[in-house]
Amino acid sequence: MTSAEGVGLELEDIQSGALHERPSPYAGTYLLLRIDDRAAGRELVRRLHSIVDHGRPSDPNDDTWITAAFTYQGLKALGVPQASLDSFAPEFRQGMAARAAELGDVGDSSPAHWERPLGTQDVHVALAALSPDPTRLRVVVERALRAQHDLPGIELIWRQDCYQLATGRTSFGFKDGIGQPAVEGSGIPPTNPREKPLKAGEIILGYPDETGELPPMPTPDVLGRNGTYVVFRKLHTRVAAYRQYLRAKAGNRGAEALIGAKMVGRWQSGAPLTLAPERDDPDLGADPHRNNDFAYADDLRGFRCPVGAHARRANPRDALDEDGSVNVRLHRMIRRGTSYGPALPEGVLEDDGADRGIIFVFAGSHIRRQFEFVKTQWLNDGIFIGVPSEKDPLVGPNDGSGTFTIPARPIRRRLQQLPPFVVTRGGEYCFAPSLRALRWLAELKT
Ligand code: HEM
Repeated sequence: MTSAEGVGLELEDIQSGALHERPSPYAGTYLLLRIDDRAAGRELVRRLHSIVDHGRPSDPNDDTWITAAFTYQGLKALGVPQASLDSFAPEFRQGMAARAAELGDVGDSSPAHWERPLGTQDVHVALAALSPDPTRLRVVVERALRAQHDLPGIELIWRQDCYQLATGRTSFGFKDGIGQPAVEGSGIPPTNPREKPLKAGEIILGYPDETGELPPMPTPDVLGRNGTYVVFRKLHTRVAAYRQYLRAKAGNRGAEALIGAKMVGRWQSGAPLTLAPERDDPDLGADPHRNNDFAYADDLRGFRCPVGAHARRANPRDALDEDGSVNVRLHRMIRRGTSYGPALPEGVLEDDGADRGIIFVFAGSHIRRQFEFVKTQWLNDGIFIGVPSEKDPLVGPNDGSGTFTIPARPIRRRLQQLPPFVVTRGGEYCFAPSLRALRWLAELKT
């Protein structure tokens, strides 16, 4: 097996999903399966082994791939020995629904209201099929479906189509997927030259992470190594409510765009407020060499980008370095978000009842200190920025009483009565094993 320069990441053994950049635009489909019969489950895994793709960059003209991941219940259904099941991270073993209160998935976002079968014991296997266009996607999805269709004992229980527009914009109108850490040994250059590539072990199990240690890894070695945890969440976005809120607070289109940008930390074009504080700069937003090349240390008070803005909360960059108590590098993540549902046409303020939003996907070695930490400590809470009562203005679990502070001279502005703009429709904690681990799972004899 060949390995990448430096850390020796075994790219041929690692599934594409975590390290591989996606084509843009693209079309995708998520499929969830239930395993009712152990032998059929192992046969499914054997077939998946031959159709999933690995993480070595491929020919961009053939940019289609399938990724496979399993929930704790799925590994159990395959007959993974108990000692091995017990070696997985506790949060993964509990599953996302059991973590709801901690994650802020309450009220309309609570598992009681989730779309079935999300959050139930039925979700065992998650497949993601991806392609640059719907025509090629059909072929890949067909390939994924063929792996299970003649297997009694394997049930297709959920399907979700998703896409990324050529503009990279998602339902609230913002370009997304810009802020992304580089990973040592992946061969993908950093988009933020001020952030050193992360140690591979932050994203892929079996390599040292930022602490210098190997992350806790499921046993046996062949099952854990080159695997990664994957979190997916279906997040409904209340776009009409969001637009109405901006209209009510701003009064005119220009001010709406500015307040919207202050809430995110970037303009809709993707231009960061730190570099373009007064007005949007679409050329900057579109330039991958410049749109992620910035820091916050010279804007600690947040006059350019509010400290409570979504992207700044989610990655405070160098702004927390002052007292040294938090190492931001321990809370980074790979995000693979996609849009689902029809876009609400520009300018429409009335809700059309359509379900639209984001399939948020996280990949990393530490569900707790990466995904859960960022979600609970930085997005749902304001203690770390000195305003305990404020939650993330765009994606936080606001309940109509929340506030958002926009620092300004001579006096700051405070937006009141923030409603929830994002409602969790469900999700799962999964594990995407290496290709060798897939073979091991298929050949289990228990
Ligand atoms: C519907 C829900 C969400 C929406 C609409 C949303 C939207 C956005 C947008 C527009 C950006 C700026 C573009 C970019 O830097 O890529 C962004 C950045 C980011 N978001 Fe979210 N997001 C959502 C949920 C989440 C969640 C749940 C997390 C983590 C738990 C998260 C973590 C991040 C991170 C880490 C960044 C990059 C920040 C940076 O590196 O500067 N987001 N998001």
